[in-house]
Amino acid sequence: MLDPILTLTDVVVSFAALRAVDGVSLSVPRGQRRAIIGPNGAGKTTLFNAIAGAVPPTSGRIVFNGHVVTGLPPHRRSRLGISRTFQITNLFPTLSVQDNMILALRGSSSSRLFSLFGSPDMEANEARRIATALRATRIADRADVIVKEMSYGEQRQLEIAIALVTTPHLLLLDEPAAGLSPSERSMIADVIRSLDRDITVIIIEHDMDLTLGLVDHVTCLFEGRVLVEEPPEGIRRNAKVQEVYLGMPRHA
Ligand SMILES: Nc1ncnc2c1ncn2[C@@H]1O[C@H](COP(=O)(O)OP(=O)(O)OP(=O)(O)O)[C@@H](O)[C@H]1O
Ligand SMILES: [Mg+2]
Repeated sequence: MLDPILTLTDVVVSFAALRAVDGVSLSVPRGQRRAIIGPNGAGKTTLFNAIAGAVPPTSGRIVFNGHVVTGLPPHRRSRLGISRTFQITNLFPTLSVQDNMILALRGSSSSRLFSLFGSPDMEANEARRIATALRATRIADRADVIVKEMSYGEQRQLEIAIALVTTPHLLLLDEPAAGLSPSERSMIADVIRSLDRDITVIIIEHDMDLTLGLVDHVTCLFEGRVLVEEPPEGIRRNAKVQEVYLGMPRHA
């Protein structure tokens, strides 16, 4: 495969006797939009945790942008350009949008001085990055709003903005549209669709209508393993996917 930005080789994540991720190998080309689908408990979030560093793989190897990151902690991976959103909302509800963004940016900064005593230049740079991320997620006019006053859909847009503010090369979105109304879902889809093509995006999502219209390629996980990998056009008709994911009987 030409120029993969992310390569997993035989990655295993075990929790006691359970192999939540059970020997996953996959390669994602730079700039690709990839969906990870699969039934509840298939290991999708655990796979994200292994890529982002929240959970160390039990075995296997993860290479990101030419760096072996298998054993690196999350903040080192973030600095290399891996960013993520969470399946469960992870915002500070009583702070403003802008303050949530500043905390995300400073928390990710490699320099303590930068976080504590930002010079005017650095602050201007921060402000620019925040404005860009808010524009990309269509909430530029909400910067001063307290997060808990926003709709749930806008909060999910803010989570993507927070993930973008560190200018990542790889964005991992864990069910970004879960729990949203149809109009909120189509807003999230628009946001994802219009992301800079330089950013590689991997999206976990149960909503097939949303996901299959967004991605170039799909990986279906089942019981911690890659069951199927193919372009979105064939996924709905794939008998294995129908059987495990859509809960339909196989007519093979
Ligand atoms: N920290 C943990 N400790 C023990 N077991 C875990 C842990 N995290 C996940 N698991 C288990 O690993 C398996 C895979 O979970 P995971 O959250 O990765 O699934 P998922 O595909 O994201 O599911 P969903 O679609 O419901 O979000 C499940 O059986 C889950 O209970
Ligand atoms: Mg999950």
